[in-house]
Amino acid sequence: MQNLSENNMDRFAGMSIVDLARRHGTPFFAYDRAVIEKRVGELKQFDVIRYAQKASSNLGLLALMRKLGVVVDAVSAGEVERALRAGFRPDSNPPGIVFTADLFDADAAEAVRAHRLEVNVGSPDMITQVGKLYPGAPVILRINPGFGHGHSRKTNTGGEWSKHGIWHSQLEECLKLGREAGVKIHGLHMHIGSGTDFEHLAQVCGSMVRAAKLLGKDLEVISAGGGLPIPYRKEQPRIDTAAYFDLWDKARKEIEANAGRAVRLEVEPGRYLVAESCVLVTQIRSIKKVDGNVFYMVDAGFDTLVRPAMYGSYHGISVVAADGRALAEEQDVVVAGPLCESGDVFTQEEGGVVVTRRLPVARIGDYLVLHDAGAYGAAMSSNYNTRRLAPEILVADGRDTVIRARQTYDHILQFERIPDDLK
Ligand code: LLP
Repeated sequence: MQNLSENNMDRFAGMSIVDLARRHGTPFFAYDRAVIEKRVGELKQFDVIRYAQKASSNLGLLALMRKLGVVVDAVSAGEVERALRAGFRPDSNPPGIVFTADLFDADAAEAVRAHRLEVNVGSPDMITQVGKLYPGAPVILRINPGFGHGHSRKTNTGGEWSKHGIWHSQLEECLKLGREAGVKIHGLHMHIGSGTDFEHLAQVCGSMVRAAKLLGKDLEVISAGGGLPIPYRKEQPRIDTAAYFDLWDKARKEIEANAGRAVRLEVEPGRYLVAESCVLVTQIRSIKKVDGNVFYMVDAGFDTLVRPAMYGSYHGISVVAADGRALAEEQDVVVAGPLCESGDVFTQEEGGVVVTRRLPVARIGDYLVLHDAGAYGAAMSSNYNTRRLAPEILVADGRDTVIRARQTYDHILQFERIPDDLK
């Protein structure tokens, strides 16, 4: 939670939230460009910062990343398309785009072939497949070291129940597959989940050093993956990025000594670069009492921000008075959205347990600001209940730029057709 003091904020990145809300309508996502720049700066020790654009893939944000010297990861043909349109080049050094997945769907296979993309493969079959798409393809192997870590079971990406990556004991087999397929396996990647503790990370680094030995002199690049956590709650500590780099750098140096060559160290964060830069601003449209509980009913739902409903994720919430009055008295409230579904509640824990949040007493028309909404916020929005995707606004130097306009109903409905006999 970067520039907002929870429960009491009326400005964002130097701009009045009420003004922004009046101009853009609610709900909307607003990103503070300065926060993104700061987070990128904190990871500059790595040779390459590869943004996992799945966290928030707006073209405006991708263009900003490019300007800051960051390259990207793409996990679908659509993300490849975005990266190309934002000006990234697959043939730059290091490659501006790397395709990462555990399978190629038809679109992705075509994108890899057409743009000759470097591929980070998460399944052995992909090695043979990429050799057929284009011989000589540069390939990185994503290894599942046998254990994982995540903020919830749904975000844990290692261990024997994870669908991600190549099981660590199959590495030699994969190198053989690579030789047979005529591809150039030159890198190793380990992304073991969102959330990191250093003891666990040291284990991952150890696995990387062991795996690297098998590649010997062919190894040119290692990637630490993403998963750097951010403090969603005030009391959570901020990750020590220097210590994080040092652990990986130590592993890299050991790998370089074993291989007798220089090895590039990449990091692949999504959340860390964008989560704290963004707020979701929504308006209270109704306040009701349900027995003893007070509900603030707002105009954003889990179609706008799904993380609380999907993972029980916590997002800080502030109230902004529409008329500028001081907010003093607080009460325990449930914050819920407009969807026709009982799980459409922002104050809930994993497993769907609805809880209350202590917030200032508010009125209809006041605004609620959900913090740290920049990662997996707009990117995971949907049209559920046929609601339009909310706009995204980039704020820099006291100026707000719409980087995604509010969707129209024509956009939502353009591909639907009524059969002739039903007209
Ligand atoms: N690299 C790979 C291969 C990944 O699978 C992911 C995330 C990342 C990098 C970036 O992870 P990050 O640095 O953002 O933690 N929707 C969930 C998170 C899913 C993460 C999926 N993979 C959430 O809202 O928390």
